[in-house]
Amino acid sequence: MSDSPYHDDRGNKDRSITREPGSTLDKVDRRSGNSTAKHGDPFLIGDAMTGGYGKGPDILHSCTIAAEKGEIAVIVGPNGAGKSTAMKAVFGMLNVNDGAVRLDGEDITHLSPQQRVVKGMGFVPQTSNIFTSMTVEENLEMGAFIRRDDFRDTMAQVYDLFPILKEKRNQAAGELSGGQRQQVAVGRALMTKPKVLMLDEPTAGVSPIVMDELFDRIIEVARTGIPILMVEQNARQALEIADKAYVLVQGRNAHTGTGKQLLADPEVRRSFLGG
Ligand SMILES: Nc1ncnc2c1ncn2[C@@H]1O[C@H](COP(=O)(O)OP(=O)(O)OP(=O)(O)O)[C@@H](O)[C@H]1O
Ligand SMILES: [Mg+2]
Repeated sequence: MSDSPYHDDRGNKDRSITREPGSTLDKVDRRSGNSTAKHGDPFLIGDAMTGGYGKGPDILHSCTIAAEKGEIAVIVGPNGAGKSTAMKAVFGMLNVNDGAVRLDGEDITHLSPQQRVVKGMGFVPQTSNIFTSMTVEENLEMGAFIRRDDFRDTMAQVYDLFPILKEKRNQAAGELSGGQRQQVAVGRALMTKPKVLMLDEPTAGVSPIVMDELFDRIIEVARTGIPILMVEQNARQALEIADKAYVLVQGRNAHTGTGKQLLADPEVRRSFLGG
């Protein structure tokens, strides 16, 4: 048993992958936010977001997705439903014409993606989420680009979480298997010590065994207190581990509940889980 914070039981108070209150990262750029937290707001919320790409039509229509501390929130839905678009909206990659994004009670709707990383967002996009010509370790170092402090401890924690990455640390990331690449992508995002982790299809293209393995690691990260907002194609398995779940259809919230509730919902079963 290792002493990594990722390997501890639920309720353990070791939050060393998360930030110390008042850490240097927290002090960066406090000017732009204003406190507009609504009572009982989740830790991260994309609240009633409407918007699309450039001058194109709206893709999201009053779409809400959120994640609470220590919880895994899962977004499922058909191809083209706007799941990735909703994640990109939360990360600041498209115009949100209406609605808001709040992180830890702060309105960050008008911040750039890089400013959001500084605020504590870790985002693993669906595609192009690693630098294939760089080594595994260089990818992790790139992940720490906003940090001015010593990040070796965090790298050791990432290697503890994904031991295969330590073994392959000097290999080009492009030579890794699909599941290993996804580990690099998640590890890279963890290098900033994010306050919240957003994953767009972390198990895309991997075998069921590797999927289970990745889900276990994601659960470990959630248990350290980092909320996870995750899009998943493997709807049934994802709902099984989801504390909160959203079904999106055509850019709108179609169903919301706990993972268990949606798994038991006959309409969700019929339309999205194959009966
Ligand atoms: N960069 C873009 N520019 C313009 N339209 C886009 C862009 N990316 C996606 N779209 C459009 O937005 C809609 C939603 O796409 P999105 O990628 O969010 O769906 P998704 O639910 O993530 O699908 P999938 O399950 O296939 O990943 C689609 O109609 C798509 O064509
Ligand atoms: Mg997508």
